Amino acid sequence: MDITAPRGTNDILPDEVGLWQHVEELVRNAAERAGYREIRTPIFEHTELFERGVGEATDIVEKEMYTFTDRGDRSITLRPEGTAPVVRALVERGLASMSQPAKVYYLGPMFRYERPQAGRYRQFHQFGLEVIGAPSPAADAEVIAVPLEVFRSLGIQDVIVNINSIGCPACRPAYRKLLQETYRPVLGKLCPSCVSRYDRNPLRLLDCKSEACRRALPEPPMILDILCPECRSHFDEVRRLLDGLNVEYAINPRLVRGLDYYTRTTFEYNVGGIGSQDAIGGGGRYDGLVEEVGGPPTPAVGVACGLERCVLAMRAMTGGEEYDAPIDIYFVALGEAAREKAFELAFDMRSCGISADFDMLDRGMKAQMRYAGKAGSRFVAIIGDNELAVESVMLKRMATGDQELVRQSEVAERILEARGGAAK
Ligand code: HAM
Repeated sequence: MDITAPRGTNDILPDEVGLWQHVEELVRNAAERAGYREIRTPIFEHTELFERGVGEATDIVEKEMYTFTDRGDRSITLRPEGTAPVVRALVERGLASMSQPAKVYYLGPMFRYERPQAGRYRQFHQFGLEVIGAPSPAADAEVIAVPLEVFRSLGIQDVIVNINSIGCPACRPAYRKLLQETYRPVLGKLCPSCVSRYDRNPLRLLDCKSEACRRALPEPPMILDILCPECRSHFDEVRRLLDGLNVEYAINPRLVRGLDYYTRTTFEYNVGGIGSQDAIGGGGRYDGLVEEVGGPPTPAVGVACGLERCVLAMRAMTGGEEYDAPIDIYFVALGEAAREKAFELAFDMRSCGISADFDMLDRGMKAQMRYAGKAGSRFVAIIGDNELAVESVMLKRMATGDQELVRQSEVAERILEARGGAAK
């Protein structure tokens, strides 16, 4: 039998987990500093949520969802993104009675049946921020700026921020018409999915990935030129706020994004050095989504970033430092009685908040010392017959090689002292 991981999935092994935990901690810190609170929604939802929320004429809904019928004959989908589930959860749990704006963040796996390549997976992780109930351009500027802090603290440099506005239900119909007029003459040269979206959602044609379409499609008209006065002033204000924060950005009139819920602001972050999948995050305003999933009309804006791509960018730029969590103390035991004592002492240490481990394979001294070294143990406590007889251990500080006999009852105190007294 040859069972391997499904295509497009990754195992994050213990050696890499330290780096992931470091990234997650920086994300949490940045989000919480900005007043966001964590939300955790289910990994699967009713398929209809994404059909309605993300949009039926999107790649995600048409081709990429992991959808199955459960034993109760319901259509279920592994979440391809986090925004629709967050909105569903808040609406269902009484958004109307919550103080607004509701500011939430999330971290977790998402699932899309895409063609895997470097930086593109079928199970990947996102962190996201959502501000629900704030029409103000300050909310847009905040969700654009907070991830930039995370990138900075991760050492990811030269992030390009692309921004655009795709208007609102008042100004978009005119733009759709203009797009259809521009594209009508080349309809015969377009891929089947563009042809089918031409009527349903011509904006989708702007970000078609097919080479043939890219060549055939003429320059699109500029949506920024036909924004209604409200959308125009919203966009100008977002820009003014970003300027005030010294956030550099490029205006990219083709940036429509792959999800249908957006209104007004859309944005994406791109970095070099990680291959063709260079978007490390993106988001925008989605003033119609809350209503779409059954809530009251509520303006909202948010962002999500791909953690695998952040880790790739970080490694490309910093070489990927080690973020291992070494243990405090490893008990090296020689003989049956010493092994029993080591077992007992390791548990004593743990109850004092000290990370401790011991040999489980009855190995010799050398092998135990090697294991302790690899685990990055700060101290090793050696227990043989001599130490047992005087209720002590030979405590060795690995960084310096210094060692001394310490009473078993005083080991925890020594370790805590060496750590500056702080329990982990
Ligand atoms: P999205 O642009 O589809 O937006 O995804 C956000 C980020 O997730 C992408 O920029 C990328 O870094 C990462 N990502 C997407 N697909 C993959 C994949 N197959 N493999 C690896 N990474 C991937 C959203 O999901 C929206 N929910 C963002 C949002 C939040 N809009 C408003 N609020």
